[in-house]
Amino acid sequence: MPESMPPVLTTSRLRLRPLAADDGPALYSIFSDEEVVRYWSRSAWTDMAQADEMLAAAMRDYADGSGLRYGIVLSATEELIGVASLFAFNRDNRRCEIGYVLGSRHWGQGYASEALVPVLDHAFGPLGMNRIEADIDPQNIASGRVLEKLAFRREGYMPERWFVHGEYADTAFYGLLRRYWDERLLSRSSAVAAG
Ligand SMILES: CC(C)(COP(=O)(O)OP(=O)(O)OC[C@H]1O[C@@H](n2cnc3c(N)ncnc32)[C@H](O)[C@@H]1OP(=O)(O)O)[C@@H](O)C(=O)NCCC(=O)NCCS
Repeated sequence: MPESMPPVLTTSRLRLRPLAADDGPALYSIFSDEEVVRYWSRSAWTDMAQADEMLAAAMRDYADGSGLRYGIVLSATEELIGVASLFAFNRDNRRCEIGYVLGSRHWGQGYASEALVPVLDHAFGPLGMNRIEADIDPQNIASGRVLEKLAFRREGYMPERWFVHGEYADTAFYGLLRRYWDERLLSRSSAVAAG
């Protein structure tokens, strides 16, 4: 197993694990949905070969350490419901980017916020990151809310940074520093102690 293979991470309802060769059909069902890619920089998939390409890219990234893609699985059913990724590693400056996507049937149940907690713990812990960045479409309210719940701060706004789905799209740029993450954990534990 390459050293950069993502470890299996667990939460109360989810398991995050490396993507596997037989995840193609589940990935296709997620990424072929127009709703899912509405604020994404690419179009909805129309060919199963695109799932194979994502799987091949994930395996290459695991092998050379350039990215970690976690499959998000419901513990109760083993269903693959989404993907979370850490990519664009700049190890000298201890930063990387985060991305996440869930199949639309699973939105609105707190799964994204739940899944990203152990991913961020892993990034700030064993991976030694100090800063995680996210570039989202400011119209993507759910995504901004997920980031804010996880203590990311909105740091910038870049108009017309992307040309997707036939129109320009803006970037809302978010950052999470290790110290914001530590402060979040401290404030939660002092709230528990006070309660
Ligand atoms: C963004 C995404 C991952 C969120 O997943 P999710 O599991 O539904 O997220 P959560 O349930 O953890 O949190 C969503 C939050 O946004 C809120 N929200 C969702 N839509 C909203 C809206 N239109 N207006 C206001 N708040 C909204 C939810 O109420 C929730 O906040 P709360 O916990 O305070 O109530 C999911 O919508 C998705 O996969 N979208 C497509 C891919 C994508 O855009 N990825 C991000 C780009 S990097």
